Amino acid sequence: MAHQSDLIAEDIGAYLKAQEEKSMLRFITCGSVDDGKSTLIGRLLYDSKLIFEDQLNALEADSKKMGTQGQEIDFALLVDGLAAEREQGITIDVAYRFFSTDKRKFIVADTPGHEQYTRNMATGASTADLAILLIDARKGVLTQTRRHSYIASLLGIKHIVLAVNKMDLVDYSQKVLTDIEIEYREFAKGFGFSEIMSIPMSALRGDNILAPSDKMPWYEGPSLMHHLETVKVDDVRAEGPFRMPVQWVNRPNLDFRGFSGTIASGSVKVGDPIKALPNAVESRVKSIVTYDGELDEAVAGEAVTITLEDEIDISRGDVIAGKDNPPEVADQFEAKIIWMAADAMLPGRPYLFKTAAKTLPGVVTDLKYKVNVNTLEHTAAKKLDLNEIGICNISLDRRIAFDPYGLNRETGAFIIIDRLTNTTVGAGMIDFALRRASNIHWQALDVNKAARADMKHQRPAVLWFTGFSGSGKSTIANIIEKRLFARHRHTYVLDGDNVRHGLNKDLGFTDADRVENIRRIGEVSKLMVDAGLMVMTSFISPFRAERDMVRGLVDAGEFIEVFVDTPIEVCATRDPKGLYKKAKAGEIKNFTGFDSPYEAPLNPEIHVETAKMSAEECADKIIGYLEQNGYLNANGNGQS
Ligand code: ADX
Repeated sequence: MAHQSDLIAEDIGAYLKAQEEKSMLRFITCGSVDDGKSTLIGRLLYDSKLIFEDQLNALEADSKKMGTQGQEIDFALLVDGLAAEREQGITIDVAYRFFSTDKRKFIVADTPGHEQYTRNMATGASTADLAILLIDARKGVLTQTRRHSYIASLLGIKHIVLAVNKMDLVDYSQKVLTDIEIEYREFAKGFGFSEIMSIPMSALRGDNILAPSDKMPWYEGPSLMHHLETVKVDDVRAEGPFRMPVQWVNRPNLDFRGFSGTIASGSVKVGDPIKALPNAVESRVKSIVTYDGELDEAVAGEAVTITLEDEIDISRGDVIAGKDNPPEVADQFEAKIIWMAADAMLPGRPYLFKTAAKTLPGVVTDLKYKVNVNTLEHTAAKKLDLNEIGICNISLDRRIAFDPYGLNRETGAFIIIDRLTNTTVGAGMIDFALRRASNIHWQALDVNKAARADMKHQRPAVLWFTGFSGSGKSTIANIIEKRLFARHRHTYVLDGDNVRHGLNKDLGFTDADRVENIRRIGEVSKLMVDAGLMVMTSFISPFRAERDMVRGLVDAGEFIEVFVDTPIEVCATRDPKGLYKKAKAGEIKNFTGFDSPYEAPLNPEIHVETAKMSAEECADKIIGYLEQNGYLNANGNGQS
């Protein structure tokens, strides 16, 4: 605050200490410019002569120069809501403003109301304790109020301020406030808010912003600022169960082994019994080390290194928790996902899931339904588009320690990262673990892949042909199979048109269906490779993500990507099935190369250009590759 700036100049240490001891409230403002949002924020900041972020930045630099400690905490809080997204290079339009009064420190996330609303608001709300929902007194509860409330509830916000603004334009009428309040409470019933505080105000005139207004003597509640300064938010972070995701294992020498990380929730003391997940190993806290020396106790938000009484196996990404109240461990969940990318979320497509502890590959196995944020209706869907929210089942490659988001926002949230572009494409909240697959173990069979392959005297692999319809995939695959067959190889061809009559007859040509098509073919190819076969697959397989996923399903060297590179004009001239003609005439939708994309391989093992070579020549090239790389030598062990 401005009046504290004297203290900043005189005694920076005392100023920072006073700041540190104040509690922190994070809130988000929801509403549009028309509702008076900027005026409201402006009022709050300017009228109370509050400190701004850039001033505090300057302060931080000065403080560092002077060697004072303590300013760190504020800045971590200031930016951590966005840290994960920043690392991932997503641009989210959320302005975080920091200010403080005598009583409290505040971080307000201000999200622009128009474009990308869901995504921006979700980002701002993910760390907020309270949401101010602005309502124009003349208009009452609108669709957007409902949408904001739903997102706030989804992100676990418990405290709502219904800021009924522009009361000056409705003659400061008590009835207007009461009607709005009744309607809103009815609507918000199922949202799990613990408190809804309605405050009638005029941001423009300053009524009930800082001080009670004499225009509304009938209103007995607090002013907005008074409420923000005094509202008691349940501090799950500090009071919840102890959780510390291990960011790194600190082993400078053989005598010291510590686990470093930021405490996500709760607190820990020297001597506490702990349990590390997912491996469920137990020990006791021997010491809590920080940059400034050892502590007896540390709480949420602090970055510490913990040493333990026993030498137990804990790795980066594990979660250390209190022994008696550990998080759950699972690899499959039901979760809510907010999609933040222009490319739709497609079930079956591989993504990276970054939780508090770990980043793991995984897939959305099922999109159960999406929620219309305006009407809250559930609708069946095969994909999630930008700003859509869906309820999904998720399967990760390995087990993680987590809490349901409703219990712990730190350990129950994740972001979704695109594997190819490495950008954040979605955010999620875990509802609960799905148990069904945890009890299914791989059956270890005595006759295994190597034995089956040995008996066939071959090295199993999948030759994955990809290219436009009519590029020549099936023709070349057919020639290769005949040649391998003549050499007594055990082969099988999976062909798009054939498989789509059986296994995949339920699938069409939308992006979502193509992803599922390739996922199934990938799984079938994997089984066939396991059976010791040389498999040839002939599918357009237009997306890199799914081709890469199949590559990851089999062992190194077992996936040979063959790019059948034929210009679309050439394919259209050949038009063996007459489909290009129909596509041109607009009779077929989502036709690859027309109104459905094709992503050419970046690094295929084999590249053949059918416009320049005959099918036989392409086959020669492929067989040559197989020979040179030891796929066709007699003993089948891969040695050339
Ligand atoms: S993929 O994209 O999911 O890999 P797949 O290879 O199984 O496609 O099927 C492509 C074949 O289906 C084409 O060769 C063509 O014969 C036929 N087909 C019918 N409609 C379409 C369409 N809209 N886009 C592409 N191929 C289509």
